[in-house]
Amino acid sequence: DSYDYLFKVLLVGDSAVGKSCLLMRFTADRFDEVTTSTIGVDFRVKYLNLGGRRVKLTVWDTAGQERFRTLTSSYYRGAQGIIFVYDVTRRETFEDLERIWMKEVDIYSNIEDAVKMVVANKVDLASTRAVSTEEGHAFARDNGCLYVETSAKVNIAVGQAFEELVQKILET
Ligand code: GTP
Ligand code: MG
Repeated sequence: DSYDYLFKVLLVGDSAVGKSCLLMRFTADRFDEVTTSTIGVDFRVKYLNLGGRRVKLTVWDTAGQERFRTLTSSYYRGAQGIIFVYDVTRRETFEDLERIWMKEVDIYSNIEDAVKMVVANKVDLASTRAVSTEEGHAFARDNGCLYVETSAKVNIAVGQAFEELVQKILET
């Protein structure tokens, strides 16, 4: 188990936006149509080679359900990267990034210098899309976040999202 860098990255966002599916796609290249809601916190490890540097990435997958919120917030500390996930077909999950998740992270993480990314997931569902690219992008920019559109289902830009985040962490 040798590596040059060890980073902790966190996935947050409402229940059923696809956090666990993004992690499963990224670490095992798998997708399950039927999933169970995450209880508390889970994590998976992935090694990346970026520019000749070996990075050990631990990705912490938190529960979106409200009843786990005090528990999951205790895992925020020490993260170098935070991924805010919403579901492009459910507008309230986008609004909750500002209403809930950005606030939670500000309160519990004490990591002003963590790299933040907004991930707009489920872009394969184009016909029922409820939040546009322009809107998602503007929100991310206004909050100092990177922005990537993904589909865990058909594997659009999932690896790219994590790699872009790690690249930015390496640069800061
Ligand atoms: P919690 O653990 O409750 O916080 O939810 P979660 O954000 O981890 O959601 P999860 O990954 O369990 O996915 C919820 C549902 O969305 C599942 O039925 C998935 O199959 C579906 N899903 C996830 N990603 C995608 C995607 O990119 N496209 C489509 N069409 N469905 C997706
Ligand atoms: Mg989950």
